[in-house]
Amino acid sequence: MENEKKKIALSLIQPSGTITLGNYLGAIRNWVTMQEEFNCIFALADLHTITVRQEPAKMRKNILDAYASILACGIDVEKSLFFIQSHVSSHAELAWLLNCYTQFGELSRMTQFKDKSAKHADNINAGLFTYPSLMAADILLYQADCVPVGADQLQHLELTRDIANRFNGLYGNVFKVPEAYIPKNGARVMSLQDPTRKMSKSDENANGCVHLLDPPEVIMKKFKRAITDSEACVRYAEGKDGINNLMDIYGAVTGLTHEQIEKDFEGKGYGDFKVAVGEAVVETLRPIKAEYEKLIADKAYLEECYRKSDDIAQKISQRTLTKAKKKIGFVL
Ligand code: TRP
Repeated sequence: MENEKKKIALSLIQPSGTITLGNYLGAIRNWVTMQEEFNCIFALADLHTITVRQEPAKMRKNILDAYASILACGIDVEKSLFFIQSHVSSHAELAWLLNCYTQFGELSRMTQFKDKSAKHADNINAGLFTYPSLMAADILLYQADCVPVGADQLQHLELTRDIANRFNGLYGNVFKVPEAYIPKNGARVMSLQDPTRKMSKSDENANGCVHLLDPPEVIMKKFKRAITDSEACVRYAEGKDGINNLMDIYGAVTGLTHEQIEKDFEGKGYGDFKVAVGEAVVETLRPIKAEYEKLIADKAYLEECYRKSDDIAQKISQRTLTKAKKKIGFVL
């Protein structure tokens, strides 16, 4: 946070499982480059993960694993904040306040709520419903200018803006109204087994999802089994979802354009192409995995990193929280 004139970019990720290749190419890799241009605020959204039931020991492990993985990708706590949401009490507190400025009707329209309540029909809890007010609190506490998010979170960001405008309309300028930030090279990585769907750790078919920490032979196996089509020609075209996805992934890790890839693989079969993509991904992830192994073995260092960011985040966020409480009419 060395330069106060830079814009503030903020994003959180749920530590609800391992970090996937999709998370890396679609989000975290862009976070890493954004650290130069913005004052960046990143965090693990652990409070959000309990909207779906978690197993305590696994949850603890997932949080530390995600923290170490993301540091290993290149998030630098000297340049950016990278904290754990539940360690900063203002998030839950502002979320409650914002709940009282968010309408039942608005929350009912959220497609993620509809999808998740269909998927977890036995546990449609209030937290799942009010998830977007907590997300709004995450963002508004830091007066963020821009929020890098995937397409699936745009509706929540739009609601955040509505809540901010509503609150500001009642009480004057308390919250900065944030913009969505669509990164220039944000790859949308699809499942290797069902390329019409986003790559997800909850994919029913384990071969559909590559995890950042998968061993090289597992990564190779998953790419070799990737679903393609029967044309046997490496070209980017409508209806070739599997090959398009592999070309996107290959392009994202090598920097090659679709045209260059098509030229390089002219006359070659899908077998060769899949091996090339797998090898390129393995090489991209190799140094990240090595760094992760180092970090996860040093819990004291990890703790030093998140405590440092937690403390700064608590200070910054308290300013906004206090202002909001004062405006509402609480006795401070
Ligand atoms: N809901 C986001 C997701 O599932 C995670 C998230 C929580 C987030 N709070 C946020 C993203 C604030 C951006 C800003 O991907």
